Amino acid sequence: MSSQNGIREVMKGHHLVPVVTFNDMNTVDAFAEFLLSQEVKCIEITLRTEYGLQAIAHLKKAFGDKMLVGAGTVTTAEHIAKVEAAGGDFIVSPGLTPKLAEAFIACKTPYLPGVSTASEIMQAREFGLDTLKFFPAHLFGGIKGLKTYGSVFPDILFCPTGGITKESSSEFLALSNVFAVGGSWFQKDFDLT
Ligand code: 3PG
Repeated sequence: MSSQNGIREVMKGHHLVPVVTFNDMNTVDAFAEFLLSQEVKCIEITLRTEYGLQAIAHLKKAFGDKMLVGAGTVTTAEHIAKVEAAGGDFIVSPGLTPKLAEAFIACKTPYLPGVSTASEIMQAREFGLDTLKFFPAHLFGGIKGLKTYGSVFPDILFCPTGGITKESSSEFLALSNVFAVGGSWFQKDFDLT
């Protein structure tokens, strides 16, 4: 298995990563159906509310054969353990600290740590990490930032997230160092339905 418990292999074919925060359990199934109706078979459920872990465990049971169910806004080793207990398919963090990197390296689930700056990318590389979330992409140079990082860090692949829209997602995906794009626009679209 390649680095980060096979994150690149797990994400293969999943170019859009809908980021969703559930404020109750009532809309969880309907939101998963909404994504599947658009051929989107991946979801990143944030741990920003008390429903995050519950939604992950539920969707793994109800839709686990149809979609990848990951966790976002993971910031501590305790979060990682809870996501693994809930059966999450992948783990995303907004940033990276040495302590969190150690916990990621010790875990069994594919993981995608967040970085913003050149120094953070260099630190991630020192931990052997080569597949990173670029967050918040719109505040750290967006497309231009990714192009610059591509020439400086050609071995790193990114999933930019933050400020990306349905319309701008394809421009990000066209970059050779971008393997997927994340964003909350699916939730906004769903809320309008
Ligand atoms: C995340 O957690 O990845 C972001 O909140 C998503 O950013 P967006 O809401 O700007 O798409």
